[in-house]
Amino acid sequence: MRSRPGCSADVNLRRLPPAVLALLLQGAAFILMIALARFVPFPLTPLSFALLVGVLAAAFSHLAGQARWWVPIQFVFAPAQVAMLAVEVTPTLYLAIFLILLAVYWSTFRTQVPLYLSSNKVWRALEGLLPAEEGGRRFRFMDIGSGIGGVLAHLAQVRPDGDYSGVEIAPLPFAWSWLRLRLKPNCHVHWGSLWDCDLAQYDLVFAYLSPVPMAELWEKARREMKPGSLFISNTFAVPEFPPQQTVQVDDLHHSALFIWRM
Ligand SMILES: C[S@@+](CC[C@H](N)C(=O)[O-])C[C@H]1O[C@@H](n2cnc3c(N)ncnc32)[C@H](O)[C@@H]1O
Repeated sequence: MRSRPGCSADVNLRRLPPAVLALLLQGAAFILMIALARFVPFPLTPLSFALLVGVLAAAFSHLAGQARWWVPIQFVFAPAQVAMLAVEVTPTLYLAIFLILLAVYWSTFRTQVPLYLSSNKVWRALEGLLPAEEGGRRFRFMDIGSGIGGVLAHLAQVRPDGDYSGVEIAPLPFAWSWLRLRLKPNCHVHWGSLWDCDLAQYDLVFAYLSPVPMAELWEKARREMKPGSLFISNTFAVPEFPPQQTVQVDDLHHSALFIWRM
């Protein structure tokens, strides 16, 4: 049965990455405010206009069911632009900040997996999950979304009998990790998407991502990982598939390592 056009538009809107939806709602608030401007019973300054855009955008985000932190972000977005224009900072500075943030966060607006780092205590907990040393056999470890390469650098240092790989999509963290690991012969990072990696060759796959990709990632891991290999997720569980083992880590974030043997 075909869905009514109104329903499918609603569903498609909700499927947009939240940041893109937020931007569209800002645009809608701006256009609506232009249309409503002549009905406002007081003279509009750029700041009061921006504040009204903020109120509308915040209301739209709330009505669209966006996570609640979007409401204050939507409210301050337009007024903050007016305020920053008043400060008269050189546009080059904005461009430079934008380019740095782009290089660090890259496609986070789409993947919804930003850069944040596993703690040293997580690194040490991972040591205990690596296979026992067996005469001459090297194991293979993969960090999908390897950030600046801290997990790989640490494990390669303490367990040189493994081969460590990482894949990272954001250019600046990738470049940092590449520089950091280039002299370690048992570590390799490449620039690309974890969705293009074949997980079949690894004995352990480690992920520290976000709740968003976990269901799809679990399907990928089940499809590709070999029997007996370990899938380990820092902090983020797989919906409907409880882990076989959980290691609680006593760090600032109270991290937990969720572990599945495939
Ligand atoms: C939370 S950080 C974890 C960094 C590192 N694994 C650690 O534990 O310290 C997640 C990283 O995954 C990267 N990422 C997000 N989506 C990705 C994708 N589709 N392919 C590869 N990397 C991705 C992000 O750029 C970010 O650097």
